[in-house]
Amino acid sequence: MSDQKNPYGPGTTGHVWDENLAEATNPPPKWWMIGLHASWILVLLYTLVYPSWPWFGGAFKGVMGWTSIGEYKQDLAAINEVRGKYENQLPGKSAAAILADSELNEYVQRSAKVLFGENCAACHGSGGAGNPGFPVLADDEWLYGGEIDKITQSITAGRQGMMPARGGASLTEAEVDELARAVAATDPTSSPLFTGKGTCFACHGQDGKGTPAMGAPDLTDRIWRFGNGSFEEVKYTILHGVNDSNDANSRNAEMPSWQQRLSETEIKKLAVYVHQFGGGR
Ligand code: HEC
Ligand code: HEC
Repeated sequence: MSDQKNPYGPGTTGHVWDENLAEATNPPPKWWMIGLHASWILVLLYTLVYPSWPWFGGAFKGVMGWTSIGEYKQDLAAINEVRGKYENQLPGKSAAAILADSELNEYVQRSAKVLFGENCAACHGSGGAGNPGFPVLADDEWLYGGEIDKITQSITAGRQGMMPARGGASLTEAEVDELARAVAATDPTSSPLFTGKGTCFACHGQDGKGTPAMGAPDLTDRIWRFGNGSFEEVKYTILHGVNDSNDANSRNAEMPSWQQRLSETEIKKLAVYVHQFGGGR
């Protein structure tokens, strides 16, 4: 050890620890110095190109005039150009024609998804899966019909199905129970009251399979509009009806009208979108 006079190269800082431990002043390696200078030059160039240094009346704007809002606007214009190709066709086409055009249909599916989320999902659930008290749209059962024109009409003008308390007939408590049992068993016509004194058939049909023109649902399937189709839920509907203003306990069912709130094109888009869910006819 002692024969190595100066193990520290060109020199030391002069500090010595533990008798012979010193700090050398070797320059950093060349590659490191190149990296250091390259990086500050790059920073300088970057700040010249893009908005950077504080400047009189704002900040230095950069020699290229780049702004984030400008880039956003450019991107938006590019998107609108792609959209425009489809959007321009929509006003001139009926919902049925859009449905038949697979490319246009695909575009509408995507753009209507947001519209549905913003306006409809609160009641009908995302993807039309339904919510308690609000109809499922993603199934084959339609209150008012699943044809594209019927769906358009439902959205445009809104819907408000009406069933009077006790079907509008003067049914006794025992008769209500009998009907509720038959309906809960999805076999409404098993009670003669259905087509007889109860006059239920007038809206729900002779076979109990519903009348879309009146928004009266099929009572023979297992799809329920209110609750789970239990005896109690069905009995409640029969006792108090739906949207019967004479009965304070009547069930509520109101589909708002969208005519004033959405454009005709938006309604078309939604109709096509909803039709797609339920495999409407
Ligand atoms: C405030 C809650 C609410 C909102 C929001 C709402 N709906 Fe409805 N919708 C209902 C109710 C309730 C019914 C059932 C009406 C009835 O039973 O008479 C219904 C019925 C429908 C029907 C008829 C279903 C059938 O079986 O025939 C369609 C189609 C429909 N809605 C689509 C939409 C679309 C599309 C939107 C969004 C623009 C929307 N709804 C927004 C509550 C709502
Ligand atoms: C004036 C027409 C009308 C008459 C009469 C009528 N209903 Fe209804 N009923 C409706 C409509 C419309 C609805 C659906 C309301 C809605 O969803 O907006 C309905 C809904 C129901 C439901 C709820 C079904 C479900 O899926 O939850 C039951 C149960 C029912 N009716 C049973 C009866 C029985 C039983 C009678 C006879 C005592 C009867 N209705 C008479 C129009 C009628």
